[in-house]
Amino acid sequence: MSQNSETPIERITIPTLLRWKREGRRSVMTTAYDAVTAHIADRVADIILVGDSVGNVCLGFENTLSVSVAMMNHHLEAVARTRPRALLVADMPYLSFHVSREEAIRNAGGFLQRGADAVKLEGGAKRAEIVRALVDCEIPVMGHLGLTPQSVNVMGGFKVQGRTADDALRLLEDAQRLQEAGCFALVLEGIPAELAARATEFLTIPTIGIGAGPDCSGQVLVLHDVLGLTEGRRPKFVRAYADGFHVLKEALSRWAADVRNGAFPASEESYRLPEDLGDTIANWTPSNPT
Ligand code: KIV
Repeated sequence: MSQNSETPIERITIPTLLRWKREGRRSVMTTAYDAVTAHIADRVADIILVGDSVGNVCLGFENTLSVSVAMMNHHLEAVARTRPRALLVADMPYLSFHVSREEAIRNAGGFLQRGADAVKLEGGAKRAEIVRALVDCEIPVMGHLGLTPQSVNVMGGFKVQGRTADDALRLLEDAQRLQEAGCFALVLEGIPAELAARATEFLTIPTIGIGAGPDCSGQVLVLHDVLGLTEGRRPKFVRAYADGFHVLKEALSRWAADVRNGAFPASEESYRLPEDLGDTIANWTPSNPT
């Protein structure tokens, strides 16, 4: 069933994604941070991620480390109000799952209560215990391995991971541990294509790649990157399908010019008084100041 050629109306669920993995069907994930981007994303994507990338994409932070649970709740609620048919995943921000198991459950459970279908968290085998605890509380978890932006300080920058034998083997081991712990999917970010292909081959859960080559079960890009809304240098793995920044700026500047030269608003964009009230306001005089 479809509304039009690009919008299936069936809700996408975790069993849907696991079936697609078995069938070799690719899934599409993108980000949304508000109702506008959620409506656009839901016409196209299978999975909508309210990513902690909201920090650098929308909130002006340099990286994702400053994003709090309260900020995520605010953006998640806006996206959830659009009731997307796509699977809605909320990112666990930095420090929301590091301090204690109880805090992790409360924060992740809070996301589900606000409309998320699942949460995503960064990290390998050392996060397996937390993943297990969340899954035990009926909270589906998507893992995230490779170039994990919350580890920017440990990595010494946003650098491709898994390029040495030790790192590559550790990543495969991490992927296996996360699957065993109950993750229903894994984001693989910023790793060599061959490594992502090997992980995708042996895992039974889908992999969603970003800068991880073409052989993952699906792909994710930040919506603002796909639309070309982000200014400046983009990472190699980003392909912008529109020059959104300039298209939107051009439209806005035509409006601004019309305001300045008096062409906006036109008569048909203005409200009118009933004809018989014209004299009433014309005859009104300001009263003397009291
Ligand atoms: O926060 C985010 O947008 C992400 C994706 C890029 C995977 O984690």
